[in-house]
Amino acid sequence: MTFSRITGLGYYVPDNIITNNDLTQWMDTSDEWIQERTGIKERRYFEHGKDTNYSMAAAASRQALERAGLTADNVDVIVYATITPDYFFPGSAFLMQRELGMDGKPVIDIRQQCSGFVYALSIADQFIKSGMYKTALVVGSEIQSSWIDKSTAGRNTAVIFGDGAGAAVLQATEDPHHRILSTHLHADGRFAEDLYVKEPGSSRPGRTATAKMIEEGGFNVHMNGNTVFKHAIVRFGEVINEALEANGFTSDDVNVLVPHQANIRISDYVRQQMGLSEEQVINNIQRFGNTTAASIPIAMAEAWEQDRIKEGDLVCLAAFGSGFTWASALIRW
Ligand code: UT7
Repeated sequence: MTFSRITGLGYYVPDNIITNNDLTQWMDTSDEWIQERTGIKERRYFEHGKDTNYSMAAAASRQALERAGLTADNVDVIVYATITPDYFFPGSAFLMQRELGMDGKPVIDIRQQCSGFVYALSIADQFIKSGMYKTALVVGSEIQSSWIDKSTAGRNTAVIFGDGAGAAVLQATEDPHHRILSTHLHADGRFAEDLYVKEPGSSRPGRTATAKMIEEGGFNVHMNGNTVFKHAIVRFGEVINEALEANGFTSDDVNVLVPHQANIRISDYVRQQMGLSEEQVINNIQRFGNTTAASIPIAMAEAWEQDRIKEGDLVCLAAFGSGFTWASALIRW
């Protein structure tokens, strides 16, 4: 049997730190409100002329490849998750492939919002288990700061999001003891408009982008925060239990949980439900905010660097986000 194993992790965050107090120059908010409701103290914003979605992804990928002892030449496929691509099309995977000098290698761009990285990991895992490819680069990268509405009207989303990228190298292995055990994916389109950006949409009269659409806020992130929150706390628990049950484990067996960094209150709720300690749950939302598809690989790479993920650990990844989507992965490290 062929399985896949994560053999390298990397991440990149821009140097530009934006504190909660910095946000008060654009909108009516406060450090106290943001910390109390979300746990976030600061986030990173990309620097125009220095960072792009694909350049951040390439930096994270180079680090992941180096740690795996590989070069870009060894990679058979790129699976790239983002909802904030450099171009409307083609996707950022093409640009990162060019940056890494991987001409001719297949690339796949996926969206799937906050669950994007776990979906991407699942796709790469299936490619490897089927024998089609031996090495995959799985990436999550986001530039949210140029999309969000930084006025008071947009404050319920603007304070949450940040920029950054994370990457994982997946390699084929015959070793049943150190591998991705399973992945579990879900979606429910009935809630598509509870967290979405409407424009630039194709199903519009006339041109796809007009001044009126900008005026009406069609390009801004719209979120029914309470609805998202209520579904998130239920779905996180469900999809984690699904992964544990599929492999004959209970939450007592989990060493490390890496949740999507949506809100510290969501992570704390899930942690308490599972009976895990604070040390076992990776949270870096305080420093990076919610980086959507990049949040899990950044958190996982940091945890690995800090020796909080060790060989033999049972590691669970879990995500919930726009779509709605929710997903988990169980890994024996
Ligand atoms: O990663 C994708 C998944 N996303 C999530 O999981 C996000 C889930 N949702 C949340 O995390 C929370 O809903 C938020 C953090 C976004 C909002 O927290 P909340 O406790 O649900 O606040 P709320 O939207 O119910 O707003 C409460 C009050 C309102 O004022 P009134 O009507 O009570 O006077 C808002 O206008 O807080 C106000 N408010 C703010 N005040 C200061 C909303 N945003 C802000 C802000 N600063 N940034």
